[in-house]
Amino acid sequence: MKCLLLLLLLTFLLAHDTGADDIIGGKESRPHSRPYMAFLEIKLCNNRSSCGGFLIRRDFVMTAAHCAGDSITVKLGAHNINKREETWQIINVTKQFPHPEYNAERLLNDIMLLKLEKKAKLTTSAVKTLPLPKRSNSVLPGKECLAAGWGRTGPNLPGSDTLQEVELRLMNPSDCKVFDCFDQKSQLCVGTPNSRKSVFFGDSGGPLVCSGVAQGIVSYVNLNAKPPSGFTRIAHYSSWINQILKAN
Ligand SMILES: *[C@@H]1O[C@H](CO)[C@@H](O)[C@H](O)[C@H]1NC(C)=O
Ligand SMILES: *[C@@H]1O[C@H](CO)[C@@H](O)[C@H](O)[C@H]1NC(C)=O
Repeated sequence: MKCLLLLLLLTFLLAHDTGADDIIGGKESRPHSRPYMAFLEIKLCNNRSSCGGFLIRRDFVMTAAHCAGDSITVKLGAHNINKREETWQIINVTKQFPHPEYNAERLLNDIMLLKLEKKAKLTTSAVKTLPLPKRSNSVLPGKECLAAGWGRTGPNLPGSDTLQEVELRLMNPSDCKVFDCFDQKSQLCVGTPNSRKSVFFGDSGGPLVCSGVAQGIVSYVNLNAKPPSGFTRIAHYSSWINQILKAN
């Protein structure tokens, strides 16, 4: 099965098997309850698109490599991205660090670090960093995690103004064998089979948070948008991440 990037112009397609009332299990986040979330506005040639991301240090945001563009602006402290909130901090990205071995065709190493022009101001209510996993840290199948984003909630709907979130479960790597591109070492297989609840509609680049730690980055789904989906496994990249953070 082909892998479909949860691309920029944000395409999360819902799989509705039955009536329209059978909604996906996602819901609107309580405002500012996910203070690490970043909304990324990306310019590429003449196009604008968006991704999710998350603050990992006052001056660094992590996202997916396929969110790279000519320029990126980050919005922190947002719940509704289209209605000015006092908590917003809008900061330009000065340097993009896509993984040097990012492979857009095979969807490998879909991870990127963004250096911010100035340090974000951490606040008690709306802007905080999200911890990364230790190198040795491995999360096991069955674990309940949370993903959030401003992505589309339906095929023909615009992106969501407000942050949405959904609980997702780690699956066995063998459940992702259906994908041409799945790589067990560097990716997580995520979703809850046979459950509409598991349909994920967050943006590319957003985090998968398990017990308060960022373990994954939203990367791709399959064409019918049913579980599972593929997330970049952050722990696999610990030494590359540390190297960039130290040098910058
Ligand atoms: C910009 O968007 C148009 C229409 O969606 C698309 O055809 C074109 O390839 C895009 N250009 C780039 C550089 O992504
Ligand atoms: C970001 O950069 C653009 C282009 O250089 C500039 O117009 C804009 O004012 C900057 N925004 C912020 C928040 O610094």
